Amino acid sequence: MDTNEFAVLKLFVVGILATDSFNIEPTPPRPRKACNESRLQWEVEVCGEEFKRDMGQIDPQYWCNLTHFISEYHIFTLCTEAKSLVVHCYWPNPLVESYIIRIHKHFFSNCTIEQVVWVDPPDDTLTILILIPVFLTLAMIALVVWCSKRSDILA
Ligand SMILES: *[C@@H]1O[C@H](CO)[C@@H](O)[C@H](O)[C@H]1NC(C)=O
Ligand SMILES: *[C@@H]1O[C@H](CO)[C@@H](O)[C@H](O)[C@H]1NC(C)=O
Ligand SMILES: *[C@@H]1O[C@H](CO)[C@@H](O)[C@H](O)[C@H]1NC(C)=O
Repeated sequence: MDTNEFAVLKLFVVGILATDSFNIEPTPPRPRKACNESRLQWEVEVCGEEFKRDMGQIDPQYWCNLTHFISEYHIFTLCTEAKSLVVHCYWPNPLVESYIIRIHKHFFSNCTIEQVVWVDPPDDTLTILILIPVFLTLAMIALVVWCSKRSDILA
């Protein structure tokens, strides 16, 4: 198992633990209309462009440091969630997931989990509240990536 795979697994475990102990997994509201995927694709690109712009203002040497990009990342996930609801799609959904994976590949492909998880957890309830959904999203992405890697291996 290479470092990346291990990191991905660890991230997934963290996600499971977070879900278990806090039990905050939201039940997505049931959309009334059919999901318009072409519109969703366009809308999440808008979220992504904003995120790229925000990340562009952060020195690339800090791109693996969650402390530096957590609020931008949080806004980005909130944005994809809001846009999904607007176009009557569930969140998370495969289209948003694959877009987030693309964003991850762009910014975080060189990061290891040791780099991403900060050394100095802040004593700040708001940050922790933001951190939990961020971890859940990361865990979700990790699971998707891990599963697709496994099916690659098995295929
Ligand atoms: C989906 O959204 C696009 C762009 O807004 C629109 O042109 C199209 O008619 C929509 N499709 C459906 C099925 O509502
Ligand atoms: C991340 O950034 C914070 C704030 O600048 C710093 O205190 C911390 O040591 C950094 N963590 C890593 C792993 O570089
Ligand atoms: C990752 O590392 C490679 C080789 O060092 C570099 O070319 C690439 O720009 C880096 N990617 C990111 C997102 O930092």
